[in-house]
Amino acid sequence: MAKKIINEPSRTLMEYRLLPGYTTDETSIDQISLETTLAWTPEGEQKFKLNIPVVSAAMQSVSGVEMGIELARLGGLAFIFCSQTIENEAAMIRDIKSYKAGFVDPFYVHPDMLIGDVFEISKSKGFNTFPVVDVNHKLLGILTKNDYSGTHHAQLKVSERMIPRDQLVVGVNISDIKEANKLLRESHQSVLPIVNEDDRLKNLVFRKDIRNHMNYPMELLDDRKRLLTGAAVNTHDYKERVPALEEAGADILTVDSSDGFSVYQKRTLEWITAHYPHLPVIGGNIITGKGFRFLVDCGARAVKVGMGGGSICITQEQKGTGRGLASAIIDVVNERNRYFEETGKYIPVVADGGIVDSKDITIALALGADYVMMGRYFARMEESPTEKIQLNNRIMKPYWGEGSARAREWKSVRYYQMKFVEGVEGFVQYAGKLRDNLPETLSKIKASMSSCGVTNIREFHENAELEIVSALSIREGKVHDIYMPNDSSDYKSDKY
Ligand code: IMP
Repeated sequence: MAKKIINEPSRTLMEYRLLPGYTTDETSIDQISLETTLAWTPEGEQKFKLNIPVVSAAMQSVSGVEMGIELARLGGLAFIFCSQTIENEAAMIRDIKSYKAGFVDPFYVHPDMLIGDVFEISKSKGFNTFPVVDVNHKLLGILTKNDYSGTHHAQLKVSERMIPRDQLVVGVNISDIKEANKLLRESHQSVLPIVNEDDRLKNLVFRKDIRNHMNYPMELLDDRKRLLTGAAVNTHDYKERVPALEEAGADILTVDSSDGFSVYQKRTLEWITAHYPHLPVIGGNIITGKGFRFLVDCGARAVKVGMGGGSICITQEQKGTGRGLASAIIDVVNERNRYFEETGKYIPVVADGGIVDSKDITIALALGADYVMMGRYFARMEESPTEKIQLNNRIMKPYWGEGSARAREWKSVRYYQMKFVEGVEGFVQYAGKLRDNLPETLSKIKASMSSCGVTNIREFHENAELEIVSALSIREGKVHDIYMPNDSSDYKSDKY
């Protein structure tokens, strides 16, 4: 006889619907904030936050450098996959961290250099604006593309063609892009040099980058104005991988495991917490309150919930383990709330696996999740690291699970004991650019929250009222009994 048998079926997100609350001027869509806590830190909840409640899954076919940059610019965060060499993963983190949102690390030249040499540098680097500094790195002037000709001025010195320092508008110790924008707007320059109090050059801000930056008001930045990024680690090589990722600049880690309730996860979390206490780490995946308590006691600063629900996941079929995501969230959130009452520490809960569209995200948040992790949703985007292909008259992108044979090829020795796979390989329909898709998803979430009469995710947790729906009422909620000659599917979730 089993130790425990629960005879209530476990529930999926799609079995729940929200009952509307009272909408007021204060809860109109433009008043709603989707900001949420990314991980508990001793410094407080504001230290690590997301501007939107979505992160991309640590998967080869989902989260590379482009996704990391674009998702952080839109307010979320990507977790770079760990099913690759440590060097490759660290290089991806470095690429994301060195992407400067508006502030460019300058490539400078000296006043005695010949224009001909600068021209050669410009050809090889692909840019043509150069700040000019002395040996102490003090700003002497700037050379823009309008100031020199590679052929006519080749034998002249930089100092003869540069715009000298005293004719330039220069920002002193500016780190706020809006302030830089104000100065640039009043100047006639296309670029603003930023110096420190000793007039030493720090950065450049280009007018064109500012225009671009203003399209990303939710950008998720660290204290040094770099984009935030996450990185996955496994329970095998963490003693080598974590130091490399930390050095590369990863802001948060997640332990990549289909079953986090294990001694392997305990060892990994405890080691990271002991050696890198400033680096928050997400534990997971678990599906019970007991699993949550275990991970938090091991040092997890956020907990990922979900097993068997992922679109590419065959864990339930292969091993018989798993749980409907809604039931898992409810169980874990209850334990999280108890833990908060006992300790005052609010540990964010991340819903992961099988979240298809805005409706699923909304239900997961209403049930108490703080943000969601998605694979399939992001795999469809231009920024996922796969090539588009034409298949059956559709543009598709490949998508495969981290437990599939394809993902495991990178280091077969690691899985030599595994006799079976836990994930499959398939295709998803190409959806276009992230910034053309995500805003619509987010506005649907805001519309639901507005209907429920709440202005932020915490209020949503406290005030949401949900009901289980029958299969018939789900059917009733879809289009029925009408003929649609052009069955445009923009109101539906994607099937592929
Ligand atoms: P999706 O958003 O439904 O596509 O699910 C993505 C999630 O599935 C990931 O964040 C992982 O938790 C999980 N996952 C990724 N690869 C596999 C796999 O091969 N087998 C089972 N689960 C997987």
